[in-house]
Amino acid sequence: TMADHLRKYESLFTLTPQRMRMIVEAFTETLELGLNKPNQIVPMIPTFVFGWPTGEEKGDFLALDLGGTNLRVCLVTLQGEGKFEITQTKYRLTEDQKQDDGQKLFDFCAECLNTFVETNMGEGEGQLKPGQCLPLGFTFSYPCSQERIDHGELIRWTKGFGAGNTEGRDVAAMFKKSLEKFQLPIQLTALINDTTGTLIASHYVNPRTKIAVIFGTGCNAAYMEHVKDVPKIENLGIDPAAEMAINCEWGAFDSFEHEHLPRTKYDTIVDDTSNKPGEQAFEKLISGRYLGEILRLVLCELIDEGVLFLGQNTYKLERPYIFDTAFLSLMESDPTDELLMVIGIFTHFFALETTLAERQFFRALAKLIGRRAARLSACGIAAIVSKMGYLEEGCSVGADGSLYNKYPGFADRVHEGLQDIFGDKGRNIITHHAEDGSGVGSAIIAAMTKNRKDAGL
Ligand code: BG6
Ligand code: GLC
Repeated sequence: TMADHLRKYESLFTLTPQRMRMIVEAFTETLELGLNKPNQIVPMIPTFVFGWPTGEEKGDFLALDLGGTNLRVCLVTLQGEGKFEITQTKYRLTEDQKQDDGQKLFDFCAECLNTFVETNMGEGEGQLKPGQCLPLGFTFSYPCSQERIDHGELIRWTKGFGAGNTEGRDVAAMFKKSLEKFQLPIQLTALINDTTGTLIASHYVNPRTKIAVIFGTGCNAAYMEHVKDVPKIENLGIDPAAEMAINCEWGAFDSFEHEHLPRTKYDTIVDDTSNKPGEQAFEKLISGRYLGEILRLVLCELIDEGVLFLGQNTYKLERPYIFDTAFLSLMESDPTDELLMVIGIFTHFFALETTLAERQFFRALAKLIGRRAARLSACGIAAIVSKMGYLEEGCSVGADGSLYNKYPGFADRVHEGLQDIFGDKGRNIITHHAEDGSGVGSAIIAAMTKNRKDAGL
């Protein structure tokens, strides 16, 4: 029966508190390693964002956001006292653009910026004054190693991107080249990661924020570190008493070696068939890009075993990545006894009839996969909390991304996971929905950078 099958998947996808604590331990060591030595699998990237914002950063800034669901252009006005206004336009990239030549991708970004500036800052209100040059924060949410704030060498594409001639190159320089083609009165001031932006934007409005996590297409975290505790940058002559945000790129945890994380055969298939086998091992168990695919692979196995959809044509479900993670959210939030939303998904998108027992099974499966993702995320957060000693005093974790914002119960499951790891004290660590990191965060960072320059730093 479906219930027997479910038991099997329960044991495959369930993480015990003990197992979680083992993962946290390995994770903590990995974070340390990344801070000690350059070029580690979890690279722990110094961002050259120094310390927290004061909340008094002010001015008009442009922000460009590449790497989430949408390509976005924003105009952000920081008003001080943790307040801001934002105007934005979203664009969608095609799959082809993600795989095409990198320079073309940046040309397209510059073109979007150009359209935005013409539309929002042309004649009339919001007009640019002659000679005015707007500072731009570019949120580029892929791992880049940085030598300064307006530089970043792409280490590798993640989240299915594969644009050519880009890995190993300075994407800030590439983007500047695209900007020049449009002769825009814009200056690239800062290249940042979405996690770093989220960290700074969250702290701007909630100073208890110490860590930021993105749960979206990808999964990653940033936090504020003492420069003296980053041995690999000792030789840069930075004041050891300073603080700097670190972009962990923790999605890469356990890549290649696969020693620490519990991977099922479905996870292995996701990995093997991806454009980057072996890489982003942690992210592939957690982020929105992959959860639907994991569930789909379980269903395909049961189709092959003759358990599901006997006598029906299942070809629609057999297409890789066709089962969106949004379907898991929908299935989990279906309020009806008959699971009418689940009926809707399967008939409408896959032309498949289902029994109630099957629908209950699908929903339970979504729950297992979603819960595992949240509990693994809790392990990552716990590793940073342990390393920094935040457990006693407690801290706030700014979180953003479609999974965090739209998946029902995701935050609660992360909190439960933290309690399983730390016991009651786990309650001291609370996630909250973050302010727009790529928009507001990059504007604040551009402002902080400008203030440091003006101060001769
Ligand atoms: C947005 C943040 O809301 O979430 C971005 O402002 C981030 O900084 C994005 O990149 C990630 O989520 P998703 O689901 O769009 O990948
Ligand atoms: C991927 C990227 C990382 C980003 C995260 C969330 O893990 O490598 O840079 O922060 O996705 O968007």
